[in-house]
Amino acid sequence: MSLESHLRTLVGDSHVITDSDLKASYETDWTRRFSGNARLVVRPARTAEVAAVVKACTSEGVPIVPQGGNTGLVGGSVPRGGEVVLSLRRLVELSPVDTMAAQVTAAAGVSIATVQEAAREAGLMYGVDLASRDSATVGGTVATNAGGLRVLRYGATRAQVVGVEAVFANGDVVQRMTGLTKDNTGYDLAGLLTGSEGTLAVITRARLKLWNPPVARATALLGLDSIADAISLLERLRTLSSLDALEAFFDDGMQLVCDHTGMSPPFPGSFGCYLLVECAGRNDPTEELATLLDDSPEVRAAAFARQRPEREALWRYREAHTESISAAGVPHKLDVTLPLARMVEFEASVRGAVAAAASPGDDVRAILFGHLGDGNLHVNVLGPADDDERADDAVLRLVASLGGSISAEHGIGVAKAPWLHLTRSPADIAAMLAIKAALDPQGIMNPGAIFSLT
Ligand code: FAD
Ligand code: MLT
Ligand code: ZN
Repeated sequence: MSLESHLRTLVGDSHVITDSDLKASYETDWTRRFSGNARLVVRPARTAEVAAVVKACTSEGVPIVPQGGNTGLVGGSVPRGGEVVLSLRRLVELSPVDTMAAQVTAAAGVSIATVQEAAREAGLMYGVDLASRDSATVGGTVATNAGGLRVLRYGATRAQVVGVEAVFANGDVVQRMTGLTKDNTGYDLAGLLTGSEGTLAVITRARLKLWNPPVARATALLGLDSIADAISLLERLRTLSSLDALEAFFDDGMQLVCDHTGMSPPFPGSFGCYLLVECAGRNDPTEELATLLDDSPEVRAAAFARQRPEREALWRYREAHTESISAAGVPHKLDVTLPLARMVEFEASVRGAVAAAASPGDDVRAILFGHLGDGNLHVNVLGPADDDERADDAVLRLVASLGGSISAEHGIGVAKAPWLHLTRSPADIAAMLAIKAALDPQGIMNPGAIFSLT
């Protein structure tokens, strides 16, 4: 029996997609920079079906690309050519929230917005939030160790993962789903699979930690002269125990957002740097935030909001960056972290490095924004052809030379695999490859992601 026929018997005819029009949305990533032909798309609905599908592919030696919401930004969720795309979007079971443990168990295809909503209805909150919340899945965010807008306070996804259920390449299912807070019984497989980008196993369920929500929030959008001023202000903002989010962007991004969304700029005139600050707590944090900002000479303009619609309107200037940049072209997305002490130097050099990497006369520009509180900037290079990696190389080498990391929260995927060696030593890469070889000896799990194909 052919693999296709075998998979049809496992998941049902209508969940094996071979028609090229129907496959198309699974074959191109969110940025439109990465695409490849899928041998077929298979859509199991349960863990047992995932295990049977993986086993069938392994026995035929056919590689698999696991896919959740396909919102990943490093090309890891789409085929390079000829793989089976294993879509997890039909795994949508969400258990009732366990309010005693403050945890919830969600299948891989449940969206982050759905987890957030379930937590809210139970009087709790999920600590991960990101602008792709309506499409990004539990499986995808665990597989990428997604960060987002609340890392400063709650940590990235790994800090929320209490357990995972996953299918290994040989079809074995491992469950670490007891929800025990303390469980030092051997290796931390859940921690290892978090951030493994589909290269070690297919995640089918996760048990997630929930938090007590704050009672009140206060948001401020600030205009400052420079990122140096933003960092000096950041040092004082960090003294506030209510600090919840600290995001930065620049005037070129603000203009793109206003052009794309039709929103008016928040202030008359323009500023060298914008900071979006949110505080949250059991008591209303507005006064302590306003007092600190009143006493801060760096603040040149400020807009405050306390109620949800007004706060969301301020957040929109920040959250709309991704879609506004993509509307202007196909970006090379370089998500990097820097030590805060080198951030000013990086910001001052990176646009020049991008320009120097281009040919004279090329229309190339770098739009920067990101999670400044985490030392995480997103460098979005517009202009180079999809396969012209000169700017990527220049930016990632600059990051490495300043002691940063070439991936803060999006992962390595295929986009950054050639530069892995910049911020991981040969011994480190050898250890990771040994783990990969042990768990996936045939190399069928997302080949080309994290580690370049040789
Ligand atoms: P996919 O894109 O489908 O897959 C991502 C990777 O995970 C791939 O390598 C894939 O093979 C693997 N994978 C997916 N599901 C599984 C599974 N069940 N088992 C094993 N491997 C799997 N990211 C951030 O970190 N922070 C942000 O603030 C943020 N904001 C974003 C805003 C927008 C508008 C967009 C479009 C993206 C944003 N992202 C952000 C990136 C993206 O949403 C995250 O990387 C997210 O974790 C991807 O989830 P997904 O379900 O779409 O996964
Ligand atoms: C964000 O912080 O908005 C995301 O990581 C998405 C992006 O980098 O475009
Ligand atoms: Zn981000």
